[in-house]
Amino acid sequence: MQMHQLGKTGPDVSAIGLGCMGMSGMYGPSDRAESIATIHAALDAGVNLLDTGDFYGMGHNEILIGEAIKGLKRDDFLLSVKFGALRDPAGAWLGYDARPAAIRNFLAYSLQRLGVDHIDIYRPARLDPNVPIEDQIGAMADLVKEGYIKHIGLSEVGADTIRRAAAVHPIVDLQIEYSLISRGIEDQILPTCRELGIGITAYGVLSRGLISGHWQKDAAAQKGDFRVISPRFQAGNVEKNLKLVEALRRIADSKGVSVAQIAIAWVAAQGKDIIPVVGARRRDRLAEALGSLSVELSAEDLATIERAVPKDAAAGGRYPEAQLVHMDSEK
Ligand SMILES: NC(=O)c1ccc[n+]([C@@H]2O[C@H](COP(=O)([O-])OP(=O)(O)OC[C@H]3O[C@@H](n4cnc5c(N)ncnc54)[C@H](OP(=O)(O)O)[C@@H]3O)[C@@H](O)[C@H]2O)c1
Repeated sequence: MQMHQLGKTGPDVSAIGLGCMGMSGMYGPSDRAESIATIHAALDAGVNLLDTGDFYGMGHNEILIGEAIKGLKRDDFLLSVKFGALRDPAGAWLGYDARPAAIRNFLAYSLQRLGVDHIDIYRPARLDPNVPIEDQIGAMADLVKEGYIKHIGLSEVGADTIRRAAAVHPIVDLQIEYSLISRGIEDQILPTCRELGIGITAYGVLSRGLISGHWQKDAAAQKGDFRVISPRFQAGNVEKNLKLVEALRRIADSKGVSVAQIAIAWVAAQGKDIIPVVGARRRDRLAEALGSLSVELSAEDLATIERAVPKDAAAGGRYPEAQLVHMDSEK
């Protein structure tokens, strides 16, 4: 497995991370035994970065990961955990809370659910507009000093917030959506991270399955699946987006690889400071994703891919408008 340092102050991470969100209901039902087998297969293949959020399945995802890592050597994996999203018993989203006391409370519960004494990278899932970022990072810096977290990361925030956060404590990475059809970070956010030595853990590299080559126009997403409300999966948009996938498929076929592998390899080719975190929840999908590590894209291949899927070619926003307006990264 190729390893890269995450940011200029972070740990060495595998060239691909495993995002575990889809194992806890965010993409409809998933199989518990297969999820755990997928985590084990990833670790066996040398993937050392496991990404989760305490709100994925309201603790379900952390408990699942806790079960998968039980008995393993703590140094063999890195846990990246998001906190701050508030949910109700039925799963509804209630906003964000990143007050210093709330952060300590969230962390206490995460450590229990995961069954570990520290978290490697801890990050607020979104910017809580009611708490200055300096106070959030200050509270996390105290947790670093106390040994409960090793590194501080950010998620879906914009350039100004990144600078303010980095002025308080080193930030190892920004987790943010980045794919062939979500390239917004290229204008300001990515250059800012590069200037400050902050890595990128890219999610949505397959646009939640849409550009994986496996999604069908009439694939029925079930209640609770994010794709039910995602603009890019809606009738009228999905057909246009799947045309882009067909253009990608022609390139993938010509190289003898899969569409998902091209999509992941394109993100990885944008720089060693960018680690794709893929959301495989089955071993076959994981194996396909890992296959992208041996896909080599020449400058000519990259240009062909970008002609097939031009920047801003996607139909529909990456989140519903009601969510986008609250995202610091979109301001
Ligand atoms: N910071 C944030 O705001 C944020 C937001 C979202 C996610 N994340 C993190 O990023 C991780 C990955 O992101 P994501 O799930 O949104 O995106 P993704 O990797 O773009 O999409 C994952 C989905 O694509 C489908 N797929 C098809 N072929 C695949 C393959 N070869 N490998 C992997 N998936 C394949 C799977 O759907 P089927 O299983 O239905 O086929 C899978 O659930 C999450 O697990 C989470 O940890 C962070």
